[in-house]
Amino acid sequence: MNLRITRTSAYMHWAKTRSRARFNLATSGLANLKLQDLQFSLDDLELTGEGGYGYQPLIQALADRYQVDAACVVTAAGTSFANHLAMAALINPGDEILLESPAYEPLLALAHYLGAEVKRFQRRFEDGFRISPAEIERNLSPRTRLIVITNFHNPSGVLTDDDTLKQVGELARQGNARVLVDEVYLQMLFAEPPRTSFHLGNQFIVTSSLTKAFGLSGLRCGWILAQPQLAKSMWLLNDLFAATPVHAGERLSVAALRQLAVITERAQTRLERNRQLLNQFLDARDDLEAIRPASGSIMFPRVKQGSADRLCELLREKYETSVVPGRFFEMPAHFRVGLGGDSETLAEGLERLGGALDELR
Ligand SMILES: Cc1ncc(COP(=O)(O)O)c(C=O)c1O
Repeated sequence: MNLRITRTSAYMHWAKTRSRARFNLATSGLANLKLQDLQFSLDDLELTGEGGYGYQPLIQALADRYQVDAACVVTAAGTSFANHLAMAALINPGDEILLESPAYEPLLALAHYLGAEVKRFQRRFEDGFRISPAEIERNLSPRTRLIVITNFHNPSGVLTDDDTLKQVGELARQGNARVLVDEVYLQMLFAEPPRTSFHLGNQFIVTSSLTKAFGLSGLRCGWILAQPQLAKSMWLLNDLFAATPVHAGERLSVAALRQLAVITERAQTRLERNRQLLNQFLDARDDLEAIRPASGSIMFPRVKQGSADRLCELLREKYETSVVPGRFFEMPAHFRVGLGGDSETLAEGLERLGGALDELR
């Protein structure tokens, strides 16, 4: 048998090697904090912890935050590894999964890597990138084991409401499937406790991290919320991968979770200001059309004429500005703009984006 296994993510490789620019609008989360932005003492740190399956103070802090039982929490290196552990625990090679389109490409690559048979359901620009439960139902088969959704949606930033998620959950329940919701952007609602689909039913599994909403990607503090039996299977699976986390990171994550209120305030102020800047920019452009979510840190405009690839190239080469080409999300007429950076960079980057668009007219 000639099996071709996916072992790379084209998007992640691009993000690591090609997205940097003087005016970087390609980053999707809040700009990274520095160590000095966190209050902690060296006495809070230790090299080695006790307990093989999670650092209890971290597990408990997350359980308290989400108001769930500690047995439902699994920690992992970022949402990335949380997605990997969750998906690997939930499916066997050959299982059918239903993944949204457009999708965050590493999720698609991961599903292929795990040997899933990947079917897609569309989130259409014309429908405001909404999830249609009817469309999911049409694509479900008796072999579907998992439905995968991002909320907010990456790349469009669109929020999926609980009613829609409940309908998807009901479809999954009837078909003996589960729903994996990547909620890494949902935390940008900044609700306390955070809004989560985990409470919508036992078929929901949720992944997230401190990366996007709080600018704490460097901590790699990710987690999965799952029913206790499933959570246990993910911990056991992790024995084949990372085995144990970096303990100093776990300690710093506990310190960070205690300070989220302060970090949140700064993040909210920045996002509000930057959303205004981006909305003003979009108001002034008749060559772009966009769904404009009221929250979050990303938008996914469409170039009415011409090619977004050409725009992205020109923007990078001549205008020292980067956005993410829509081809990474299977929609080459679009590009993704991030608004989590500092406002001066965004303002200048948008000015330059306007210059590149004018040049291509
Ligand atoms: C939908 C989605 N999930 C996961 C990640 C990765 O998050 P983390 O840095 O927590 O691994 C990203 C990053 O862009 C993302 O967009």
